[in-house]
Amino acid sequence: MAIVVVTKINRFHKQINGNDKVTLTFNVSANLESLFTWNTKQVFVFLTAEYKNAKNSLNQISLWDHIIPDKEHANLQLEVKSKYPLIDQGSSLRGKKVQLVLHWYVMPNAGTMIQDQMALSEFKLPDAYTS
Ligand SMILES: *[C@@H]1O[C@H](CO)[C@@H](O)[C@H](O)[C@H]1NC(C)=O
Repeated sequence: MAIVVVTKINRFHKQINGNDKVTLTFNVSANLESLFTWNTKQVFVFLTAEYKNAKNSLNQISLWDHIIPDKEHANLQLEVKSKYPLIDQGSSLRGKKVQLVLHWYVMPNAGTMIQDQMALSEFKLPDAYTS
């Protein structure tokens, strides 16, 4: 139902404060048409990068988000840059395996909001900074 492929590491460096920062380009392919029923107002979808390091058992960082207004726009085929950079609290990202997860909120016209998520591919960050 959904595939996200990282196509480019745009920049991977260590900030002056010592935190690693990565910006990515990725292709999103996701057909979310089935989330639209008579009661769906819109769908909010976001992509997170999730990984472990010595500081935290789970770091979850939002990379991109998108509002789908209707079913006609729910079959996503997009090439996008990360809206939000992946910033580590520290410098543990070199060679790190990162799990991509697609999350969505289905906002109804009436009733309770439904939330779900789906684990996607893993990708490995480069062993060295790009700049
Ligand atoms: C990513 O999407 C672009 C534009 O649709 C396409 O040209 C490119 O081949 C895709 N790359 C991968 C690795 O799927």
